[in-house]
Amino acid sequence: DSARAHYRARIAAQLKARNAVLVAHYYTDPEIQALAEATGGCVADSLEMARFGKDHPATTLIVAGVRFMGETAKILSPEKRVLMPTLEATCSLDIGCPADAFSDFCDQQPDRTVVVYANTSAAVKARADWVVTSSIAVELIDHLDRQGEKILWAPDRHLGNYVRERTGADVLCWDGECIVHDEFKAQGILDLKALHPEAAVLVHPESPASVVEIADVVGSTSQLIVAAQKLDNPSFIVATDRGIFYKMQQLMPGKTFMAAPTAGNGATCRSCANCPWMAMNGLENTLAVLEDANGCGQEIHVDAAIAARALVPLDRMLEFGA
Ligand code: 13P
Ligand code: SF4
Repeated sequence: DSARAHYRARIAAQLKARNAVLVAHYYTDPEIQALAEATGGCVADSLEMARFGKDHPATTLIVAGVRFMGETAKILSPEKRVLMPTLEATCSLDIGCPADAFSDFCDQQPDRTVVVYANTSAAVKARADWVVTSSIAVELIDHLDRQGEKILWAPDRHLGNYVRERTGADVLCWDGECIVHDEFKAQGILDLKALHPEAAVLVHPESPASVVEIADVVGSTSQLIVAAQKLDNPSFIVATDRGIFYKMQQLMPGKTFMAAPTAGNGATCRSCANCPWMAMNGLENTLAVLEDANGCGQEIHVDAAIAARALVPLDRMLEFGA
């Protein structure tokens, strides 16, 4: 409606005036993704977001995603101002892996190479040898395994178990989970598949092993989008945040995308395939941080010593994923 259009126009004008660019994740609201695309920003997975923000000439990054994405952007581009629509947008994986407890865990396993998922705080990354995203996790663990390294993996146990399964590496896992992906149910997916036998099942590896097992394709958000383009199936059952449907439908208007069932049978689900923190990014708070000289207090700051240490494994991630 016209009120939304007015917001979009004001955000676009502010981005220009402030030499800022909007960097959005596939899980954000379709409205935010469309705006990022229309204003020369990007919609991407977490690895591509990090790369885009680092390489872009803008002096301010507006990161529409969750906090670890804003922190990563700031660590990779300390000279840029990094704002988020709200700093309250966190992640259950980040929450479930506090830096002090994680550091103690690492101290108890001095012979293991520490690999952490991008979905962690800057302080956790600062304790790591490597950072990875889901798009390169299997390749990296395979690479380290071939060098004879034993791995300490954090925080997502489903992804950790998946990379162990795929590579045969010695992987000790932290016990964390994503509240969105942990809810997908294999039986619900099989029931839906019985109704739509022509559908391929696309699964993000933060999902439980029982769900990964019945997948036709397992991959990061970008990898699932590419797979849907390559496959001939007319429809897909998708076990990841439903925000991804925006890009899938845009690229494949003739195909049908169905959300994988979560709790099912009327039971309450915690997220229903929609990350509550990603959903905090809206037009209103995006405009507010742009219009306020102080960014409404939603600017990312990372302690300099932590940032310097976290930059090492983050740079390794970008280099490995290149
Ligand atoms: P990717 O976009 O790297 O697949 O990450 C998924 C995720 O859960 C981000 O919250
Ligand atoms: Fe974290 Fe899961 Fe939300 Fe991604 S979808 S930000 S992993 S809680």
